[in-house]
Amino acid sequence: MTQLKVDISKLQSFIDDQAWPAMQEEMNNCHRQLTLQTGKGNDFLGWVDLPVQLETSLLDHIRANAETIRQMARLFVVIGIGGSYLGSKALIEALANPFETMTGGSGYPTVVFAGENLSEDYHAHLLALLDKTEYAVAVISKSGTTTEPAIAFRLIKQHIEKKYGKKEARKRIFAITDVARGALKKLADTEGYSTYVIPDDVGGRYSVLTPVGLLPVAVAGYDILSLLDGAKQMRTVALTSPDFFQNPCTLYAAARNLLLRSGKTTEILVAFEPSLLYMIEWWKQLYGESEGKEHKGIFPAGVTFTSDLHSMGQYIQEGMRTLFETVISIGEPAKQLSVPIDTENLDGLNFLSGMRLSEVNRQAELGTMLAHVDGGVPNIRLTLPAISEYYLGQLIYFFEFSCALSGYALGVNPFDQPGVEAYKKNMFALLGKPGFEKETTELRNRL
Ligand code: PA5
Repeated sequence: MTQLKVDISKLQSFIDDQAWPAMQEEMNNCHRQLTLQTGKGNDFLGWVDLPVQLETSLLDHIRANAETIRQMARLFVVIGIGGSYLGSKALIEALANPFETMTGGSGYPTVVFAGENLSEDYHAHLLALLDKTEYAVAVISKSGTTTEPAIAFRLIKQHIEKKYGKKEARKRIFAITDVARGALKKLADTEGYSTYVIPDDVGGRYSVLTPVGLLPVAVAGYDILSLLDGAKQMRTVALTSPDFFQNPCTLYAAARNLLLRSGKTTEILVAFEPSLLYMIEWWKQLYGESEGKEHKGIFPAGVTFTSDLHSMGQYIQEGMRTLFETVISIGEPAKQLSVPIDTENLDGLNFLSGMRLSEVNRQAELGTMLAHVDGGVPNIRLTLPAISEYYLGQLIYFFEFSCALSGYALGVNPFDQPGVEAYKKNMFALLGKPGFEKETTELRNRL
């Protein structure tokens, strides 16, 4: 089977040749820290072995529940924020036909999301939709105490119990949470919801290959076994490929750290397929939360081309020269479509007639790469043979493993997120939560 490849040929002119051997040594050291579990945050390395350790009985159970949900619901509401929703959203959007929901759907429930924001309008519109549609719910929170999904679950619990009655509602609610701690676990036990566990040693943004990602993806009709097979294949390469330049993870982590050290402080993840928009969002969370601490880290940004060539393209070509791009290049599209011939040829495009759209897109990709490199934006190219469960499994594991290596090269703990607490503290104080009285007065005086 083919696999994801990393091409660094378009950044060599931006990095001193002398820097590579030292970085190679440094990256080998980071690889050892990760595999020997001696690095920072080494109690959060459960994700490394997930693709080979998930039990068949668990996977069968997820697939059986997905079938039950499919029988009972046309909509599946996934309540969660951050790592508790971005992975499944990214996978479903990447694999779905975006127009299917408008034409009656794929035969599988449409997965919609809630509790990833606090918008009153968003949730009111969702509840109005749920009035008219058969649905089931997954409430996902590792800590079980996150405000946004907790509020969304209050709303939806009330709605589902009113719509179906308490007894039937219990059969339609699935909780995915920590094994023992947290309010959600207590509630799930009390109410008797079907529950899946997020392992203790897997953090939110590394949890897509646990039931957190697997249940929604299975409900949407996609092959979670193939997804895990792809991740398994990349795990083998990541762990055992001894040659630094042949191991895609060490190569990517090394390249981005060398670029950072040469003043390129922002990485833009680029896709030429709009279906990868949420894969970029998932990647932004993974890298932003893992690396951005102690006043360090590469700022993760994202664009989808060619759309954003008509907006952000100008800045990338000629703005501040602190950027580099990582392009996810897709080998083969799933469908075929060619440019038609037009007898009048008023747009002058008959020279393209008969050409596949993917070929036009490919030349746009290559032309953009050269233009941006010429403009001072180094380019890392990730080639993925196709968008499928198998290759997305590879991509996910590749990004996770590289992120951990890259965090170690930066000298941070890639598995914590202490900075996320600051806004929560202020929000609770401003909302008048008991126990925050002093902060409430201080903050209100500042507004
Ligand atoms: O990566 C992380 O740990 C976070 O982004 C969490 O996923 C996010 O804050 C949601 O947390 P929880 O699942 O505990 O509700």
